Amino acid sequence: MSGEPVQESLKTLQDLQAVFNDRAALASMDAGSEVYRVRWWAPVQPGTEGGLFWGVTVLQPGKVGDEYFMTHGHFHANRTRAEFYGTVSGNGVLVQMSADRRTWGETMTPGSLHYVRGENAHRLVNTGDLPLVVWACWPSDAGYDYSTIAERGFAARLVEHDGKPVLLEGE
Ligand SMILES: [Fe+2]
Repeated sequence: MSGEPVQESLKTLQDLQAVFNDRAALASMDAGSEVYRVRWWAPVQPGTEGGLFWGVTVLQPGKVGDEYFMTHGHFHANRTRAEFYGTVSGNGVLVQMSADRRTWGETMTPGSLHYVRGENAHRLVNTGDLPLVVWACWPSDAGYDYSTIAERGFAARLVEHDGKPVLLEGE
């Protein structure tokens, strides 16, 4: 994606310190390493009713300890606003969490399409060896609520166990 009005956000390990469990492993890694970048096309102003935004997330492969690289994750500020995710390339898991903290994962493979209900928090996790590239489309008045996740996180973590991704409950 390029050209106006495309915007870009880059997140490094430094930006994601709070989301990973293994602080010792994190401290041994390069804080400047890129974890993910999002480019999004906002043809209307945020908050506009009836518009749509389009984004592409590129999430790098990697782990902090046994925990896979992931995005911050968020709820939408407007809990009635849903979102589509479509996997372009790579392999991962779309982790979702309901308002009552029930948490589950949907396997993402090239071509898979995922519907996120407006009331669910959502986070991308890269469980593969290649960048996970994901398209997203969401309403321009969905907004973001990062604070709920920043305060309590998700109720489960996706870790590698015996070479396979496992969703560990327990928060
Ligand atoms: Fe979203």
